[in-house]
Amino acid sequence: MAPAAHSPSPAPAPEPRRYDRLFIGGAWVAPRSGRMIRSIDPSTEEVWAEVAEADASDVDDAVAAARSALRGPWSRLSPTRRGELLARLATLMRRDADRLAEVESRDNGKPLRDTRGEVLRAADWIAFFAGAADKINGEQIPFRPDALAYTRREPVGVVAAILPWNSPISLCSWKLGPALAAGNTMVLKPAEQTPASLIELARLVEEAGFPDGVVNVVPGFGAIAGAALVAHKGVAKVSFTGDHRTARKIMVSAADTLKRCTFECGGKSPYIVFADADLDKGLTVATHSAFRSTGQSCSAGSRVFVERPAYEAFAERLAARAGRIRVGMPLDPRTHIGPQTSAEQREKTERYIALGLEEGGRALCGGGRPASLPRGYFVEPTVFVDLPNTARLAREEVFGPVALVIPFDDEEEAVALANDTDYGLVGGLWTSDVTRAHRVAGRIEAGLVSVNTFRPVHHMLPYGGFKMSGIGRENGLEVLKEYTEVKTIVVELSSEPPGDPFAD
Ligand code: NAI
Ligand code: MG
Repeated sequence: MAPAAHSPSPAPAPEPRRYDRLFIGGAWVAPRSGRMIRSIDPSTEEVWAEVAEADASDVDDAVAAARSALRGPWSRLSPTRRGELLARLATLMRRDADRLAEVESRDNGKPLRDTRGEVLRAADWIAFFAGAADKINGEQIPFRPDALAYTRREPVGVVAAILPWNSPISLCSWKLGPALAAGNTMVLKPAEQTPASLIELARLVEEAGFPDGVVNVVPGFGAIAGAALVAHKGVAKVSFTGDHRTARKIMVSAADTLKRCTFECGGKSPYIVFADADLDKGLTVATHSAFRSTGQSCSAGSRVFVERPAYEAFAERLAARAGRIRVGMPLDPRTHIGPQTSAEQREKTERYIALGLEEGGRALCGGGRPASLPRGYFVEPTVFVDLPNTARLAREEVFGPVALVIPFDDEEEAVALANDTDYGLVGGLWTSDVTRAHRVAGRIEAGLVSVNTFRPVHHMLPYGGFKMSGIGRENGLEVLKEYTEVKTIVVELSSEPPGDPFAD
């Protein structure tokens, strides 16, 4: 491994940056408890920012602000004006991409070049839904000649967005764009590990000129602010990205008020390589898919199935490529991947590496912490072989830089292995046989299947999970269904008196 240069600074750490206000009702307010969340820079293990922490009483205020905006100024704005505000937000995000990216990199340890790209793509998301805001129509249904029946697509209400730490700005944009385009208002709760970047985003929401209370930001802990939002009577819908165990808790709590919920919960995504594929391209993409963002990606291709004749060479080449990934400091432009976002996440990854070895697996590369990076939550990219698809390492989401390569003998077996999982978010497929490509793509149980390609996640393409990877879809125009209620209106056109069933 060729790690980036790293010299521990002898100078004392600078004072943490302070974000001591919540964004509620268009104002910057102190948290009622006075408490602050300490955000750790995972590359230095030092507190780099302190961020106001919301509790249940702050959540009450945020929901009240979102409700009054929903009934008030936001409902009076035309969809075209709503779209204009979103377009302005997208422009401001592009203008401030460097600053937003730096804050996100400090919060979660991703390389600056990744976070910058994510912020720019997040702006595309917002711009796409800016354009959609005035194209959300109901339909007229000719159910009888003497009546007019039509549907309206109305906002659901106050949407609580509960966000994870791996890509806060980008995953927030996936929710904020369509929710606001459809006329909802929002309360955003960033993860406790990465509370700062959505405060920066709130500043841009303010500058864009959204009416007060349309967007509220309440950083806080899952069990406190998150749980309060999910239980709140004033919240109509929860849009969540994170662990399926948390989704389960949210579903139980949301059941009390029959809230609408959409969940995006990660996966154990299969990446199938047939021996007839362009193996060089397949290798490049497999490496990226498994290790980008230090494996902290819901769509990571963490199970790589390779057809037997190509298996051994492919596994060795994947390990060689993985071994050349530059693990380093997030702000260093040469860095390919940074640390894990938290000490807990690194522990989890290391637990799974140990488990993989106990289960009889062999690590072709990695398996430890990079020797040149004594501080920070770094883990080496690790490629496992000699484990079956039934091993825990093959069944459970690690969310770290760990890939498992498994051989298969024919198409039938590849499909069976790929689908033998509780998850179903994405699948990748490499073959030069066009018939097989479509046949296998149709059989993979996942919300998104990519064939001989790269980076299929896009604002125009619906995205979401089968099975335990989630409920509902994000992205594309498809997502607008998740943020609207359909109302059917029937109007009598005939002047005849209605037939009276009680007449005799
Ligand atoms: P998590 O599900 O606890 O955190 C996600 C969000 O949910 C955070 O904002 C958190 O504060 C909130 N939350 C936690 N408990 C809550 C509750 N009872 N009510 C309402 N909100 C609550 O995920 P965690 O523990 O940070 O990560 C654990 C694992 O989850 C990861 O190792 C990974 O496997 C998976 N994960 C998947 C993600 C994805 O993109 N699909 C993102 C983050 C984690
Ligand atoms: Mg942090």
